[in-house]
Amino acid sequence: MTFPQRRLRRLRRTPALRRMVAETRLSVDDLIAPLFVREGIDTPQPIASIPGVVQHTLDSLRTEVSQLVALGVPGLILFGVPAAKDERGSGAWDPDGIVQVALRQLRDDFGDSIVLMADLCLDEYTSHGHCGLLDDKGNVDNDATLELYGEVALAQAEAGADIVAPSGMMDGAVMAIRDALDDEDFEQVSIMAYAAKYASALYGPFRDAVDVSIAGGGDRKGYQQDYANAREALEEIRLDISEGADIVMVKPAMAYLDIISRARAEVDIPMAAYHVSGEYSMVKAAAERGWIDGDAVALEHLTAIRRAGADMILTYFAHDIAELLQS
Ligand code: PBG
Repeated sequence: MTFPQRRLRRLRRTPALRRMVAETRLSVDDLIAPLFVREGIDTPQPIASIPGVVQHTLDSLRTEVSQLVALGVPGLILFGVPAAKDERGSGAWDPDGIVQVALRQLRDDFGDSIVLMADLCLDEYTSHGHCGLLDDKGNVDNDATLELYGEVALAQAEAGADIVAPSGMMDGAVMAIRDALDDEDFEQVSIMAYAAKYASALYGPFRDAVDVSIAGGGDRKGYQQDYANAREALEEIRLDISEGADIVMVKPAMAYLDIISRARAEVDIPMAAYHVSGEYSMVKAAAERGWIDGDAVALEHLTAIRRAGADMILTYFAHDIAELLQS
Protein backbone atom coordinates (compact mmCIF):
# COMPACT_ATOMS: atom_id res chain seq x y z
CA MET A 1 0.00 0.00 0.00
CA THR A 2 1.40 3.39 -0.92
CA PHE A 3 0.86 6.33 1.39
CA PRO A 4 0.14 9.77 0.12
CA GLN A 5 3.08 12.17 0.15
CA ARG A 6 1.54 14.24 2.91
CA ARG A 7 1.62 12.51 6.29
CA LEU A 8 0.08 14.50 9.10
CA ARG A 9 1.54 12.47 11.94
CA ARG A 10 5.10 13.64 11.16
CA LEU A 11 4.51 16.96 12.93
CA ARG A 12 2.90 15.34 15.98
CA ARG A 13 5.99 13.31 16.93
CA THR A 14 7.44 15.40 19.79
CA PRO A 15 6.09 17.95 22.26
CA ALA A 16 8.32 20.63 20.73
CA LEU A 17 7.05 19.90 17.23
CA ARG A 18 3.46 20.03 18.45
CA ARG A 19 4.10 23.26 20.28
CA MET A 20 5.67 24.77 17.16
CA VAL A 21 2.71 24.00 14.91
CA ALA A 22 -0.03 24.74 17.42
CA GLU A 23 -2.68 26.96 15.81
CA THR A 24 -4.15 28.13 19.10
CA ARG A 25 -2.44 29.13 22.30
CA LEU A 26 -3.99 29.64 25.68
CA SER A 27 -2.34 32.40 27.65
CA VAL A 28 -2.92 33.96 31.03
CA ASP A 29 -3.80 37.10 29.05
CA ASP A 30 -6.98 35.39 27.85
CA LEU A 31 -8.41 34.86 31.32
CA ILE A 32 -10.98 36.85 33.27
CA ALA A 33 -11.79 35.74 36.81
CA PRO A 34 -15.41 35.93 38.04
CA LEU A 35 -15.44 36.81 41.76
CA PHE A 36 -18.27 36.99 44.29
CA VAL A 37 -18.31 39.47 47.14
CA ARG A 38 -20.93 39.22 49.87
CA GLU A 39 -22.10 41.95 52.17
CA GLY A 40 -22.06 41.46 55.95
CA ILE A 41 -19.92 38.35 56.37
CA ASP A 42 -16.69 37.96 58.36
CA THR A 43 -15.26 34.87 56.76
CA PRO A 44 -15.37 33.72 53.13
CA GLN A 45 -18.21 31.30 52.47
CA PRO A 46 -17.55 28.27 50.29
CA ILE A 47 -20.07 27.69 47.49
CA ALA A 48 -20.85 23.98 47.64
CA SER A 49 -21.90 23.69 44.00
CA ILE A 50 -18.86 25.61 42.69
CA PRO A 51 -15.99 23.77 44.41
CA GLY A 52 -12.99 25.96 45.13
CA VAL A 53 -14.96 29.20 44.64
CA VAL A 54 -16.15 31.31 47.58
CA GLN A 55 -18.30 34.29 48.42
CA HIS A 56 -15.60 36.73 49.45
CA THR A 57 -15.47 39.21 52.27
CA LEU A 58 -14.01 42.57 51.29
CA ASP A 59 -10.72 41.43 52.85
CA SER A 60 -10.51 38.01 51.25
CA LEU A 61 -11.42 39.64 47.93
CA ARG A 62 -8.40 41.91 48.27
CA THR A 63 -6.14 38.89 48.94
CA GLU A 64 -7.51 36.97 45.97
CA VAL A 65 -7.09 39.94 43.64
CA SER A 66 -3.50 40.49 44.75
CA GLN A 67 -2.81 36.88 43.79
CA LEU A 68 -4.50 37.28 40.42
CA VAL A 69 -2.43 40.40 39.76
CA ALA A 70 0.76 38.51 40.71
CA LEU A 71 -0.21 35.71 38.33
CA GLY A 72 -0.74 38.22 35.52
CA VAL A 73 -4.48 37.66 35.09
CA PRO A 74 -5.56 40.81 33.23
CA GLY A 75 -9.17 41.11 34.36
CA LEU A 76 -11.85 40.22 36.86
CA ILE A 77 -15.62 40.51 36.91
CA LEU A 78 -17.39 41.20 40.19
CA PHE A 79 -20.76 39.87 41.32
CA GLY A 80 -22.36 41.16 44.50
CA VAL A 81 -24.41 39.34 47.09
CA PRO A 82 -26.28 41.97 49.10
CA ALA A 83 -27.34 41.48 52.72
CA ALA A 84 -30.93 42.40 51.80
CA LYS A 85 -32.90 42.23 48.55
CA ASP A 86 -35.94 44.26 47.50
CA GLU A 87 -38.48 44.56 44.66
CA ARG A 88 -36.38 47.02 42.67
CA GLY A 89 -32.95 45.62 43.43
CA SER A 90 -31.76 48.89 44.92
CA GLY A 91 -28.46 47.42 46.17
CA ALA A 92 -27.35 47.31 42.55
CA TRP A 93 -27.10 51.09 42.21
CA ASP A 94 -26.71 52.20 45.82
CA PRO A 95 -23.30 53.98 46.09
CA ASP A 96 -22.81 51.97 49.27
CA GLY A 97 -23.92 48.70 47.65
CA ILE A 98 -21.46 45.88 48.08
CA VAL A 99 -20.07 45.89 44.53
CA GLN A 100 -19.55 49.65 44.57
CA VAL A 101 -17.72 49.45 47.91
CA ALA A 102 -15.57 46.59 46.61
CA LEU A 103 -14.78 48.41 43.34
CA ARG A 104 -13.59 51.52 45.21
CA GLN A 105 -11.38 49.44 47.44
CA LEU A 106 -9.90 47.45 44.55
CA ARG A 107 -9.25 50.61 42.54
CA ASP A 108 -7.43 52.13 45.53
CA ASP A 109 -5.40 49.00 46.16
CA PHE A 110 -4.54 47.90 42.64
CA GLY A 111 -4.76 50.98 40.45
CA ASP A 112 -4.73 50.00 36.79
CA SER A 113 -2.89 46.71 37.27
CA ILE A 114 -6.04 44.66 36.65
CA VAL A 115 -9.14 45.48 34.61
CA LEU A 116 -12.15 45.90 36.91
CA MET A 117 -15.42 44.74 35.40
CA ALA A 118 -18.79 44.72 37.07
CA ASP A 119 -21.67 42.46 36.11
CA LEU A 120 -24.56 44.84 35.47
CA CYS A 121 -27.86 43.23 36.36
CA LEU A 122 -30.58 43.28 38.99
CA ASP A 123 -31.12 39.60 39.70
CA GLU A 124 -28.66 39.37 42.59
CA TYR A 125 -30.47 42.29 44.23
CA THR A 126 -34.18 41.68 43.56
CA SER A 127 -36.40 39.78 45.97
CA HIS A 128 -38.07 38.01 43.02
CA GLY A 129 -34.76 37.03 41.39
CA HIS A 130 -35.51 38.42 37.91
CA CYS A 131 -33.04 40.49 35.92
CA GLY A 132 -35.42 43.43 35.64
CA LEU A 133 -38.39 45.22 37.15
CA LEU A 134 -41.73 43.44 37.20
CA ASP A 135 -44.92 45.06 35.90
CA ASP A 136 -48.40 44.60 37.44
CA LYS A 137 -48.79 41.22 35.79
CA GLY A 138 -45.43 39.97 37.04
CA ASN A 139 -43.71 40.26 33.64
CA VAL A 140 -40.27 41.80 33.30
CA ASP A 141 -40.79 45.34 32.03
CA ASN A 142 -38.07 45.96 29.46
CA ASP A 143 -38.10 49.75 29.25
CA ALA A 144 -38.59 50.47 32.96
CA THR A 145 -35.62 48.20 33.56
CA LEU A 146 -33.44 50.17 31.12
CA GLU A 147 -33.70 53.28 33.27
CA LEU A 148 -32.44 51.37 36.27
CA TYR A 149 -29.61 49.82 34.25
CA GLY A 150 -28.45 53.37 33.54
CA GLU A 151 -28.38 54.04 37.29
CA VAL A 152 -26.44 50.86 37.97
CA ALA A 153 -23.91 51.72 35.26
CA LEU A 154 -23.35 55.16 36.78
CA ALA A 155 -22.91 53.76 40.29
CA GLN A 156 -20.39 51.22 39.00
CA ALA A 157 -18.54 53.79 36.90
CA GLU A 158 -18.36 56.23 39.79
CA ALA A 159 -16.95 53.45 41.97
CA GLY A 160 -14.18 52.83 39.46
CA ALA A 161 -15.30 50.11 37.03
CA ASP A 162 -13.29 50.04 33.78
CA ILE A 163 -15.97 47.96 32.11
CA VAL A 164 -19.64 47.39 32.87
CA ALA A 165 -21.15 44.15 31.66
CA PRO A 166 -24.92 44.11 31.17
CA SER A 167 -26.12 40.51 31.56
CA GLY A 168 -29.89 40.99 31.74
CA MET A 169 -30.76 40.49 28.05
CA MET A 170 -33.10 43.48 27.90
CA ASP A 171 -33.55 44.92 24.41
CA GLY A 172 -31.80 48.26 24.08
CA ALA A 173 -29.71 47.85 27.25
CA VAL A 174 -26.39 48.69 25.63
CA MET A 175 -27.68 51.94 24.13
CA ALA A 176 -29.38 52.99 27.37
CA ILE A 177 -26.21 52.34 29.34
CA ARG A 178 -23.97 54.08 26.79
CA ASP A 179 -26.22 57.16 26.90
CA ALA A 180 -26.30 57.22 30.69
CA LEU A 181 -22.50 56.93 30.90
CA ASP A 182 -21.80 59.55 28.24
CA ASP A 183 -24.24 62.05 29.78
CA GLU A 184 -22.24 61.93 33.00
CA ASP A 185 -18.81 62.12 31.32
CA PHE A 186 -17.95 58.45 31.66
CA GLU A 187 -17.07 58.08 27.96
CA GLN A 188 -13.97 56.10 28.94
CA VAL A 189 -15.96 53.33 30.61
CA SER A 190 -16.41 50.38 28.24
CA ILE A 191 -19.34 48.03 27.79
CA MET A 192 -18.93 44.30 27.54
CA ALA A 193 -22.33 43.06 26.45
CA TYR A 194 -23.59 39.62 27.33
CA ALA A 195 -24.87 39.72 23.76
CA ALA A 196 -25.78 36.12 23.03
CA LYS A 197 -26.80 34.78 26.40
CA TYR A 198 -28.83 31.62 26.37
CA ALA A 199 -31.46 30.49 28.88
CA SER A 200 -29.26 27.67 30.14
CA ALA A 201 -29.60 25.09 32.89
CA LEU A 202 -25.84 25.46 33.36
CA TYR A 203 -26.28 28.60 35.52
CA GLY A 204 -27.67 26.53 38.43
CA PRO A 205 -24.53 26.67 40.62
CA PHE A 206 -24.16 30.42 40.01
CA ARG A 207 -27.62 31.00 41.45
CA ASP A 208 -26.45 29.26 44.63
CA ALA A 209 -23.44 31.57 44.64
CA VAL A 210 -25.59 34.70 44.61
CA ASP A 211 -28.50 33.29 46.64
CA VAL A 212 -30.99 33.74 43.80
CA SER A 213 -34.10 31.73 43.30
CA ILE A 214 -36.61 32.92 40.75
CA ALA A 215 -40.03 33.66 42.20
CA GLY A 216 -42.68 31.02 41.64
CA GLY A 217 -40.17 28.56 40.20
CA GLY A 218 -39.97 30.78 37.10
CA ASP A 219 -37.23 30.94 34.54
CA ARG A 220 -35.57 33.47 32.25
CA LYS A 221 -36.82 32.11 28.94
CA GLY A 222 -38.79 35.30 28.32
CA TYR A 223 -35.59 37.30 27.93
CA GLN A 224 -32.61 34.97 27.55
CA GLN A 225 -32.22 33.14 24.26
CA ASP A 226 -33.63 29.77 23.25
CA TYR A 227 -30.79 27.29 22.77
CA ALA A 228 -32.49 26.04 19.62
CA ASN A 229 -31.46 29.26 17.86
CA ALA A 230 -28.19 30.26 16.25
CA ARG A 231 -29.08 32.95 13.70
CA GLU A 232 -30.87 34.88 16.43
CA ALA A 233 -27.58 35.04 18.37
CA LEU A 234 -25.93 36.80 15.44
CA GLU A 235 -28.78 39.30 15.37
CA GLU A 236 -28.34 39.93 19.12
CA ILE A 237 -24.62 40.47 18.59
CA ARG A 238 -25.10 42.81 15.59
CA LEU A 239 -27.63 44.87 17.54
CA ASP A 240 -25.41 45.18 20.60
CA ILE A 241 -22.51 46.33 18.45
CA SER A 242 -24.71 48.87 16.71
CA GLU A 243 -25.82 50.15 20.13
CA GLY A 244 -22.20 50.70 21.16
CA ALA A 245 -20.88 47.50 22.75
CA ASP A 246 -17.07 47.49 22.94
CA ILE A 247 -16.84 43.74 23.58
CA VAL A 248 -19.50 41.11 22.87
CA MET A 249 -19.92 37.86 24.75
CA VAL A 250 -21.35 34.44 24.03
CA LYS A 251 -22.56 32.47 27.04
CA PRO A 252 -22.34 29.56 27.95
CA ALA A 253 -19.34 28.34 25.96
CA MET A 254 -18.88 24.63 25.39
CA ALA A 255 -22.30 23.84 23.96
CA TYR A 256 -22.18 27.08 21.95
CA LEU A 257 -18.86 26.82 20.12
CA ASP A 258 -20.80 27.00 16.86
CA ILE A 259 -22.15 30.39 17.92
CA ILE A 260 -18.68 31.64 18.87
CA SER A 261 -17.30 30.42 15.57
CA ARG A 262 -20.08 31.95 13.46
CA ALA A 263 -19.87 35.22 15.35
CA ARG A 264 -16.10 35.34 14.94
CA ALA A 265 -16.49 35.17 11.18
CA GLU A 266 -18.61 38.33 11.28
CA VAL A 267 -17.35 40.33 14.21
CA ASP A 268 -14.14 42.33 14.31
CA ILE A 269 -14.44 43.75 17.81
CA PRO A 270 -13.12 41.71 20.77
CA MET A 271 -15.22 38.67 21.64
CA ALA A 272 -15.54 37.02 25.02
CA ALA A 273 -17.00 33.68 26.02
CA TYR A 274 -18.25 32.73 29.48
CA HIS A 275 -17.36 29.23 30.63
CA VAL A 276 -20.16 29.22 33.19
CA SER A 277 -20.61 27.76 36.64
CA GLY A 278 -22.25 24.51 35.49
CA GLU A 279 -19.51 23.88 32.95
CA TYR A 280 -16.86 24.38 35.63
CA SER A 281 -18.66 22.33 38.25
CA MET A 282 -19.19 19.35 35.94
CA VAL A 283 -15.44 19.19 35.39
CA LYS A 284 -14.70 19.55 39.11
CA ALA A 285 -17.26 16.93 40.12
CA ALA A 286 -16.02 14.33 37.65
CA ALA A 287 -12.40 15.09 38.61
CA GLU A 288 -13.22 14.66 42.32
CA ARG A 289 -14.49 11.18 41.53
CA GLY A 290 -11.29 10.40 39.68
CA TRP A 291 -13.22 9.97 36.44
CA ILE A 292 -11.32 12.63 34.49
CA ASP A 293 -8.14 14.64 34.90
CA GLY A 294 -9.60 18.03 35.88
CA ASP A 295 -6.64 20.19 34.85
CA ALA A 296 -6.34 18.45 31.50
CA VAL A 297 -10.05 18.88 30.77
CA ALA A 298 -9.94 22.52 31.86
CA LEU A 299 -7.07 23.21 29.45
CA GLU A 300 -8.91 21.37 26.69
CA HIS A 301 -12.13 23.33 27.28
CA LEU A 302 -10.44 26.72 27.42
CA THR A 303 -8.24 26.06 24.41
CA ALA A 304 -11.26 24.88 22.42
CA ILE A 305 -13.10 28.11 23.27
CA ARG A 306 -10.11 30.09 21.99
CA ARG A 307 -9.95 27.88 18.87
CA ALA A 308 -13.61 28.60 18.16
CA GLY A 309 -12.74 32.29 18.07
CA ALA A 310 -13.11 33.89 21.50
CA ASP A 311 -10.39 36.38 22.45
CA MET A 312 -11.02 36.13 26.17
CA ILE A 313 -12.71 33.71 28.54
CA LEU A 314 -14.53 34.38 31.78
CA THR A 315 -13.75 31.27 33.78
CA TYR A 316 -13.76 30.02 37.37
CA PHE A 317 -10.56 28.20 36.37
CA ALA A 318 -8.71 31.51 35.87
CA HIS A 319 -6.62 31.34 39.05
CA ASP A 320 -5.70 27.66 38.76
CA ILE A 321 -5.01 27.72 35.05
CA ALA A 322 -2.89 30.86 35.39
CA GLU A 323 -0.78 28.92 37.90
CA LEU A 324 -0.65 25.91 35.62
CA LEU A 325 0.40 27.99 32.62
CA GLN A 326 3.14 29.59 34.71
CA SER A 327 4.66 26.31 35.88
C1 PBG B 1 -27.02 37.43 35.72
C2 PBG B 1 -25.94 36.45 35.48
C3 PBG B 1 -26.02 35.06 35.55
C4 PBG B 1 -24.74 34.57 35.28
C5 PBG B 1 -23.92 35.66 35.05
N1 PBG B 1 -24.68 36.81 35.16
C6 PBG B 1 -27.15 34.18 35.94
C7 PBG B 1 -28.36 34.11 35.12
O1 PBG B 1 -28.51 34.71 34.07
O2 PBG B 1 -29.23 33.39 35.58
C8 PBG B 1 -24.35 33.12 35.25
C9 PBG B 1 -22.89 32.81 35.36
C10 PBG B 1 -22.55 31.40 35.63
O3 PBG B 1 -23.39 30.47 35.62
O4 PBG B 1 -21.36 31.15 35.87
N2 PBG B 1 -26.63 38.46 36.59
